[in-house]
Amino acid sequence: MRLNIATTFMSMLFVCSCTKLPSSFKKCNAKDSGFNKCLSEAIHNAIQQLNKPIPALGLPSLNPFRLPTFQMRVGNRKEGLEQLWKNVTLHGLTKPTTTIAKWTFGSESTLQLDVSFPVVQFDSDFEAHGRVVLLAVDVDTTFRITYEKPTFKLTFKMIESGQGSKHFKLVSTKLDMLPQKATFAYNLFDNKVLNDQINEESSKKFMETLGYIREDLAAFEPFFGNLLSAVLEKVPISDLIDGLN
Ligand SMILES: *[C@@H]1O[C@H](CO)[C@@H](O)[C@H](O)[C@H]1NC(C)=O
Repeated sequence: MRLNIATTFMSMLFVCSCTKLPSSFKKCNAKDSGFNKCLSEAIHNAIQQLNKPIPALGLPSLNPFRLPTFQMRVGNRKEGLEQLWKNVTLHGLTKPTTTIAKWTFGSESTLQLDVSFPVVQFDSDFEAHGRVVLLAVDVDTTFRITYEKPTFKLTFKMIESGQGSKHFKLVSTKLDMLPQKATFAYNLFDNKVLNDQINEESSKKFMETLGYIREDLAAFEPFFGNLLSAVLEKVPISDLIDGLN
């Protein structure tokens, strides 16, 4: 019991490392009719500012955005090809062309973000083991995919939490990344001509190719969720958005 009181007291002291939004961030008022427009500008600006880390908010630089713990596994080597993407780096995220934000308040609040970019490049370590038709594939190499004019559609769901200074708490993140065109750079074989042909054909049919891994791309969601969570954990609602109380 004594321990319980002690730990409760400790967590009251340390759980809320409350931080104000940096002055370079625009703060919007939920009661204004132009709230979503203000929020769109604020987030667009914030994304551009992430060409450097913002330690006060626990935010890393997105120039580039490194995901050293990323893993995505597709297929299996017994019946075809097992592919493993790890350790991804994204380039291009700090140069959005447009940002459209829409916040819907409720017992569960939803932040819908559509962010478009001229180009986003994904680089990763890549392993493939198995067979393509009957040809053996067994490589530990690199992979690159380039998305032209992609829109990243993010849906964040949040609930209010905490006594005293209330915070939003992220409960789910959904991400869809929709390019106008995608170019693949696979290195599966020693034969360059064969690799080039595979990459050309994959790029030509990029919608179909990406459709195959659409569900697996959810592996990106926690990394984008972590960015918002970092801010929500540090900045109380009253410092994040005006007009909510
Ligand atoms: C993978 O991680 C290493 C460091 O462990 C790094 O040097 C390399 O650039 C990374 N590759 C990608 C594509 O991020």
